[in-house]
Amino acid sequence: MFSFRQPLRHLCHINSSFPRPKRHLASAAACTLQAKPISPSFGAEVEGVDWSGPLAPNVVREIVQLQNRWGVLVFRQTGLNDATHVGYSKNFGALETAHAMNKPRRSSLPQLYDAGNLGPDDRIIPQFSRAWWHTKGNGLWHTDSSFHQLRSSYSALRAVELPPAGGQTKYADMRAAYRGLPDDLKERIENLVIEHWIWHSRKLAAPQEFEKPTEEEKATLPPAYHKLVQVAPDGINKTLYIASHARRIIGMADSESTSLIRALLDHAQQPQYQIAVKWKNIGDLVQWDNRCTMHRATAFQDQKNRRDMRRTTTHDHGPGAFGVKNQLSADDIDVRVGGTIDISTGPTPETQTQEQILAM
Ligand code: OGA
Ligand code: MN
Repeated sequence: MFSFRQPLRHLCHINSSFPRPKRHLASAAACTLQAKPISPSFGAEVEGVDWSGPLAPNVVREIVQLQNRWGVLVFRQTGLNDATHVGYSKNFGALETAHAMNKPRRSSLPQLYDAGNLGPDDRIIPQFSRAWWHTKGNGLWHTDSSFHQLRSSYSALRAVELPPAGGQTKYADMRAAYRGLPDDLKERIENLVIEHWIWHSRKLAAPQEFEKPTEEEKATLPPAYHKLVQVAPDGINKTLYIASHARRIIGMADSESTSLIRALLDHAQQPQYQIAVKWKNIGDLVQWDNRCTMHRATAFQDQKNRRDMRRTTTHDHGPGAFGVKNQLSADDIDVRVGGTIDISTGPTPETQTQEQILAM
């Protein structure tokens, strides 16, 4: 019987039936971090990181191994500030410049995405403003940046101010969700490609406000194209790459596409695939792998309490990083929504090239 009460040190190499690649296992001697599982196969609280300076390369490697194993890592009371948060995340690759659509950025650091409920004037964003409606999209199950052609690997979200109650973040294990699908459905979806569009999730969360995104909004964040079934970063398990940003399945009739996307999202958000992370202290940092998880914000009194959350997002540099846009024909790409899509190149202009990322 699995016990959550084992001493932390012993959980470093916890045994479980969950398949994992042997080559990713740290040797016993190299293991300096302790992982305490949040559920038997998904999510872990990690102790043993020395946050007082730059991370040693072996610690960075161990974090990647734990990330591949658990998908979501919780680090308590890191003591990180904006600059050291950004510095920490650079250990894992190049960072995205955060898009600040509908909400001017509060931080001076362009790598910090503002996931809180405060405006540039440092006051609570007023209810029913466009910026307030925009934040509602985070309450839907999603994975960060699937709407970019160059997708992201890790998101690292840090608590700067917390409300007294509510505001947990929930996570879904997309490897387990894939495993839980019936075989015939696995076969049916194996080669499907999804169009991800941020304005689709904004419209789902706020149908009136985002019925018609503006020309500027559409041009700034056009859709992106990614395979639905992918090999997870652990190199072994298959995973579902889907989110509320998923607008349609390429080559499928609209009604069939909509109901299949809905069915897959409903399947993945079942309780057996989920964990909830409670933010306890300022400086708590949660890092998740967007390639094999989904997440969502939960409610709190957002007109009464402040919740300041800042996030770094690392560009993926794995095999699925740039999705499949180059493999699609012009007919497949929905020019109605973006208007300015150039299908001749892979990455979108605001991001780095594949060569630049790989050279990091
Ligand atoms: C995010 C996000 C959820 C939350 O930062 O990407 O979805 O609980 N946050 O703030
Ligand atoms: Mn998010």
